[in-house]
Amino acid sequence: MLIREQTDHDADEVRRLRKVAFGGTAEGNPLRPGLRGLVAELDGHPAGTLVVHEFHQYYGGAPVPMGGIGGVAVDPHARGRGVATALLERALADLREHGQPLSVLYATVPSLYRSRGWERAGVFEVVDFALDRLAAGPRLPARPVGEADLPGLHACYNDLASTVDGLLDRSRPAIDVADVRGLDIASLVPGHDGEVRGYLTAERDRDGLRVLDLVGRDAETQLGLLGGLASWGGALDRLSLRVVDPAVTGLLTNQGIRYTTTTSQWLLRVVDLPAAVAARGWPAARWLRPAAVDLDVEDEHAPWHAGRHRLVVEDGSVRVERGGSGAVRVRARALGPWFSGMQDSHALRRAGLLDGDAALLDRLTGVPGVPRLADFF
Ligand SMILES: CC(C)(COP(=O)(O)OP(=O)(O)OC[C@H]1O[C@@H](n2cnc3c(N)ncnc32)[C@H](O)[C@@H]1OP(=O)(O)O)[C@@H](O)C(=O)NCCC(=O)NCCS
Repeated sequence: MLIREQTDHDADEVRRLRKVAFGGTAEGNPLRPGLRGLVAELDGHPAGTLVVHEFHQYYGGAPVPMGGIGGVAVDPHARGRGVATALLERALADLREHGQPLSVLYATVPSLYRSRGWERAGVFEVVDFALDRLAAGPRLPARPVGEADLPGLHACYNDLASTVDGLLDRSRPAIDVADVRGLDIASLVPGHDGEVRGYLTAERDRDGLRVLDLVGRDAETQLGLLGGLASWGGALDRLSLRVVDPAVTGLLTNQGIRYTTTTSQWLLRVVDLPAAVAARGWPAARWLRPAAVDLDVEDEHAPWHAGRHRLVVEDGSVRVERGGSGAVRVRARALGPWFSGMQDSHALRRAGLLDGDAALLDRLTGVPGVPRLADFF
């Protein structure tokens, strides 16, 4: 088996592989700026593919380069022979070479990705929303998004995104904010001095209305954008709202006891621990005295960061250097959920992914996690 970079000559074969794997039409050449691909050849013929998006994901307020893996597809005749696994192993080296210390993917087959170190580390959620539960909000001076509004709209989004661990910075070339102008609905609430107070983007299809972003700098703007959706009552009973700002869906909507949230899990892999730690923001480090924890990273698929490392907190910053006693044993799969703050060291220990006293790791991320009750009363 040969694994190589995808070229423009592979366009037809890659399109075919993706069509067979995912259905649909899979139009166009998947390669473009901000996106690269790998191809697996069997007997000189493409039999598997994946793509890597050049994203940046906010952690602790800093955008960390992240390779978003998608389109993992293997020809049916070639499945079960390790083609996808070989593509992932090559992707790890490729991510490191491209300066992407993190990688995220949405997995239909978690076991495949877990075996190479990806682990659940966050959620993508869509809330299904009954229109008759919408409170009327304040009337806002909304208008369509124009070309000149795009930098302000991007700034409005990024001011929010930089405060929510995991959100992308939506920078070019991987994402072009101008694409919002091609959506069915892109409306904006202007603020003072050219600042954008908030905006809403949505797509209308036969199934209903899908609100993509509902972003506002203050409660009045958020409530006004939500209230404006009431105009769809009559035509629609419900709509769906992608959770971008958890404050909107969590604090401002009027859901009953039961409602439907569709959750997609994403898996995170720390590809290069020292580089990922250096790129992340660590707001909690400012309040910590100088401290260190000695790690022994077990990661046969990313040998460049395997072995003994010392994670050092000093003068408000955090770094990882070689050495130390290796007192805390961490398996590769533990690194993603720790880095994102989804799981604490106790949960990782119970899952068999970590051994030793790792309280400092928890203090650093703050382990915001996803709080929940498991009893109903
Ligand atoms: C999923 C897919 C990419 C796997 O490709 P593959 O080359 O057959 O995978 P591998 O041979 O490397 O398998 C690696 C491991 O994953 C497991 N696996 C693969 N496909 C699986 C499936 N559909 N369900 C459960 N486990 C699966 C294998 O059993 C194997 O486990 P093992 O090492 O313990 O034996 C391929 O089946 C495919 O293209 N499916 C359709 C598209 C798709 O679902 N893509 C994934 C998007 S996230």
